[in-house]
Amino acid sequence: MSLLITGGTLVGPLGAQPADVLVDGETVAALYAPGGAAGVAADRTVDATGKYVVPGGVDVHTHMELPFGGTNASDTFETGTVAAAWGGTTTIIDFAVQRTGEVVEEGLAAWHAKADGNCAIDYGFHMIIGGVDEAALKAMDSLVAHEGVTSFKLFMAYPGVFYSDDGQILQAMQRAAGNGAIIMMHAENGMAIDVLVAQALARGDVDPVFHGRTRPPALEAEATHRAVVLAQVAGDCPLYIVHLSASGALAEVAAARGTGQNVFAETCPQYLYLSLEEHLGASGFEGAKYVCSPPLRSKAEPHAADLWRGLRTDDLAVVSTDHCPFCFKDQKELGRGDFSKIPNGIGGVEHRMDLVYQGVASGNLSVERWVETCSTTPARMFGLYPRKGVIAPGSDADIVVYDPNGRTTLGAATHHMNLDYSAYEGFEVAGKVDTVISRGSVLVDGGGFHGRPGHGRFLRRGLSQYLR
Ligand code: URP
Ligand code: ZN
Ligand code: ZN
Repeated sequence: MSLLITGGTLVGPLGAQPADVLVDGETVAALYAPGGAAGVAADRTVDATGKYVVPGGVDVHTHMELPFGGTNASDTFETGTVAAAWGGTTTIIDFAVQRTGEVVEEGLAAWHAKADGNCAIDYGFHMIIGGVDEAALKAMDSLVAHEGVTSFKLFMAYPGVFYSDDGQILQAMQRAAGNGAIIMMHAENGMAIDVLVAQALARGDVDPVFHGRTRPPALEAEATHRAVVLAQVAGDCPLYIVHLSASGALAEVAAARGTGQNVFAETCPQYLYLSLEEHLGASGFEGAKYVCSPPLRSKAEPHAADLWRGLRTDDLAVVSTDHCPFCFKDQKELGRGDFSKIPNGIGGVEHRMDLVYQGVASGNLSVERWVETCSTTPARMFGLYPRKGVIAPGSDADIVVYDPNGRTTLGAATHHMNLDYSAYEGFEVAGKVDTVISRGSVLVDGGGFHGRPGHGRFLRRGLSQYLR
């Protein structure tokens, strides 16, 4: 099956220029300057006139079916990857989990069992190491060498759940410095936060907003600083700060990058658009919908503006979603009367491309930077480039035709995530995903879904290609 995409503006690492794209089977066969494809025969033609032709989105931070907070994230690998495809994301990297006392390889096998045969788009895994011990450290080597899992998430937050102390973190970082893996860090000072949480509950401050008030930005900045220092002591272990939310943490990343250290960071749409006052602080129990960690930040402080700036300057290299959906009914409701029992997470895998595109529409980001932060850099950061993240001969034909003149309204009635509310309810955004192609198969077109669970394949990843 061949496919010719004509008349669009191709966006990629070399800039934005008019070009036609020929897909043969699962990969990109050729690019043509305008007019160059005249006479090329294809089984199907997609007219992209007036539209952007961009590499499929790569969302490197999702949690499908994650058991967390006494319940399970509500999207399965099937529902979550279908929703991702609707939104122009054609690759996810999800987090397999090992907890204290568990065997890393068994955790990875459990995630393969959840995903295998169920995904509508291609997927890879990072590994959460929730219990750093000798066996887990050894397993890190073997996952990098044999399993195509080359990144490990550690937590300075969530004591008693995923938390590692500084000694454990240092050992895991030393291991990564040796085997080439990248360490992904949830940087919040969980021990100090737990004290603030207990004090708030004792005072009777039980509403969702206190989730934010007990996780101040200073404790994210402090943990980010500590992670940077530990990575340096570990021999410049590559460090990637996940879901960065606050100005102070960004300043720590920028300072480390300024010294030449291999430090990178991502942010997520929720931190660019939602705030502690308007969303987490919504009246009644409504704020539970917006409980995630790190929490939404105060709009009285310049966090969101600083994050947009970080995306421009590359101190923030990637936008991921940290997609971790919990329904309001029966899931978020677990924390009525005690904010610390609200499962942490927001669902958004479907909306990342549209939400970051608003930066282009508002003049905050170039169209090239949109593609870089949502597709090319995540692919390079996690060892998938040039198979993913670029439209070039030989690359997987993961392509999105995006209509800059379209409009999209976000909300629970129209989204495809298995989630009974939307954190972005009523958002009307510029731009619209028009056609989504994964390895040469058209998944979304003409307002309909034509993909299937099982189309998506597991991606064995190489080492990060982003190291200096
Ligand atoms: O609130 C969040 N971020 N939930 C998902 C787990 C994590 O820390 O990434
Ligand atoms: Zn986290
Ligand atoms: Zn996460």
